[in-house]
Amino acid sequence: MSFPIVILGSGRGSNAEALLKSEQNRKLGGAQIAALVSDQPEAGILELGTRFSVPAIYVNPGQGGARLSPEAEAAYIERIQAFSPRLIVLAGFMRIIGPRFIEAFKGCVLNLHPSLLPSFKGAHGIRDAFEYGVKVTGCTVHWVTPQLDAGPVIEQKAIRIENSDTLALLEKKIHAAEHQLLPEVVAGLSRGEIPLP
Ligand code: GAR
Repeated sequence: MSFPIVILGSGRGSNAEALLKSEQNRKLGGAQIAALVSDQPEAGILELGTRFSVPAIYVNPGQGGARLSPEAEAAYIERIQAFSPRLIVLAGFMRIIGPRFIEAFKGCVLNLHPSLLPSFKGAHGIRDAFEYGVKVTGCTVHWVTPQLDAGPVIEQKAIRIENSDTLALLEKKIHAAEHQLLPEVVAGLSRGEIPLP
């Protein structure tokens, strides 16, 4: 593999699916999805493994609350290093990544966030923007640094919030935008059109 990617997620995995479909359709540059990793044994993202013939691995997050426990962080690093990834994509991975993990994969961890950072950081970016009443929100792909949702922005897509939008409708729009943005960024990185940090 010339540009192996490992995707980490905690939920349904619609963004992982968008990346896998892009790879299938040869729209992901030279990137290949080497593995799917989750901290939730029942997560939808792991079910994609069988469908797309990609290793899908649950790694116990330990008792670290919002973070991985130190032992779990070491296990994540080891399991992921086995795939020699050029890029690690956090696609709905709902744990705060520690400095040890970031150091182990320096300059190759990116995160997808459902707001226009630096606005509406945290676990509820779509809802927080909707409830605040902003007229424009969107999604962001950024490099991961030790500060939560604060690393350098790689690319963003803006979405206008119409007066007729409900939260559910806005969520649909943001997810559709994410499913375009994330594969575009990964393809750009793998083709060298977007520089690695
Ligand atoms: C995505 O909307 C992603 O932006 C968000 O989780 C969702 C995962 O959906 N991430 C965060 O909120 C990170 N703070 P998916 O499992 O269907 O890809």
